[in-house]
Amino acid sequence: MKITLAFDVYGTLLNTHGVVMALEELIGNQAQTFSQTWRDKQLEYSFRRGLMQSYDVFPVCISDALDYSCLHYKTSFTEVEKNELLYIYSRLPAFDDAITSLQELRKTDNHLYAFSNGPRVTVEELLSTANIREYFLEIVSVDSIKTFKPSPDVYDHFVRTSNAEKENAWLISSNPFDVIGAISAGMKAVWVQRSKEVIFDPWGVEPTITINSLLKLRKKIEEYYSN
Ligand code: 2OP
Repeated sequence: MKITLAFDVYGTLLNTHGVVMALEELIGNQAQTFSQTWRDKQLEYSFRRGLMQSYDVFPVCISDALDYSCLHYKTSFTEVEKNELLYIYSRLPAFDDAITSLQELRKTDNHLYAFSNGPRVTVEELLSTANIREYFLEIVSVDSIKTFKPSPDVYDHFVRTSNAEKENAWLISSNPFDVIGAISAGMKAVWVQRSKEVIFDPWGVEPTITINSLLKLRKKIEEYYSN
């Protein structure tokens, strides 16, 4: 049996709040809320572009969301400062549990992929600078089909591209919208609840497995198949 794991990138493998330190230099104690607004708005822009069928690469959503956040917080960032923030966003740090978990999973027969809204070249740079590119067979990007998560088309694209057995294809994500999208498209999904504050949307769709750290991933999937 072939088990295929599709790892979401932003917020699951990599810490999107890796930019908070740089933001603290610029706006002090508003940094964390600015970072959250920036993350929420980049996702909103991807949803809107998907619905509008007005695709552009995810870095455009990230950049436009930065401009929105600057207006929202009435900051006076220079172009140089904005470009520095975008540069940091292109080289986010891996979560500590990601590296350990990937080292564990490398000992199994599972097929590991990175699966992201980010275009391939962006994700290659992200994973390489975070020193975790080596763990993935391939990077599957929604950019190939010019729409965004949680369109069912992107999960079908992943299953096709990875040649996965759909009943054993798992999305691994900290983003509830992504988990609900994958399960609704017929995949299984592990929700990585990185903080107790994160609410899983009350849509009546539940994760196949919920963990609070990637360190539990290998064991929980093995338990799923042993029951
Ligand atoms: C992704 O990496 C945006 O977290 C989402 O696809």
